[in-house]
Amino acid sequence: MTDVHLTPLDEESLARLLDAAVADADPLEVMPPIEGPPGWTAERRDAFLAFHRRRSLDPATAVETTWVIDADGRAVGAARLEPAGDAVEAGIWLGRSVRGQGLGRQVAAALLDAARTGGAARFVASTTTGNAAARRLLANAGADLTVHGGDVDATLDL
Ligand SMILES: CC(C)(COP(=O)(O)OP(=O)(O)OC[C@H]1O[C@@H](n2cnc3c(N)ncnc32)[C@H](O)[C@@H]1OP(=O)(O)O)[C@@H](O)C(=O)NCCC(=O)NCCS
Repeated sequence: MTDVHLTPLDEESLARLLDAAVADADPLEVMPPIEGPPGWTAERRDAFLAFHRRRSLDPATAVETTWVIDADGRAVGAARLEPAGDAVEAGIWLGRSVRGQGLGRQVAAALLDAARTGGAARFVASTTTGNAAARRLLANAGADLTVHGGDVDATLDL
């Protein structure tokens, strides 16, 4: 089985994460949309770095904890936990070439452990009705799924 390790985000792992995103993901899957031509332009790479620095690395602005997902020592995606009241909101993305191989399941288990260790009362996540892998992952973890139009909210009491 692939060895999956969550590495806390820092400048070194952020550089590896950007390389993984550029090589194996669409920008819209891994960062908020920005203006300009599509693809991994220099502006979008800078925005990816700024996004993670602002949300995780800069103590003055951080709102979440982010980890780089290392599979057999190689960055393949990111996982995050963002406190929201007594809950934590979780997010995961994996590069296209490593999806559907059970890595998401291992990462979800590690995020649940981290959420419990951090003392959260609930674990929540959002996805869309078309995202079969994410829905399955969350349902298998024991979450209750609620559909609103095209959105799916998942909640799991810890
Ligand atoms: C969602 C995501 C994190 C899931 O991780 P993954 O490693 O691909 O998923 P796994 O291989 O661990 O599979 C999890 C479950 O989904 C099922 N699954 C995986 N890919 C699937 C697909 N394309 N269609 C239907 N089911 C699928 C698996 O069979 C497994 O269920 P099982 O244990 O009952 O067999 C990953 O696909 C991803 O990063 N997608 C793009 C970004 C994204 O959508 N993030 C989630 C937003 S909440």
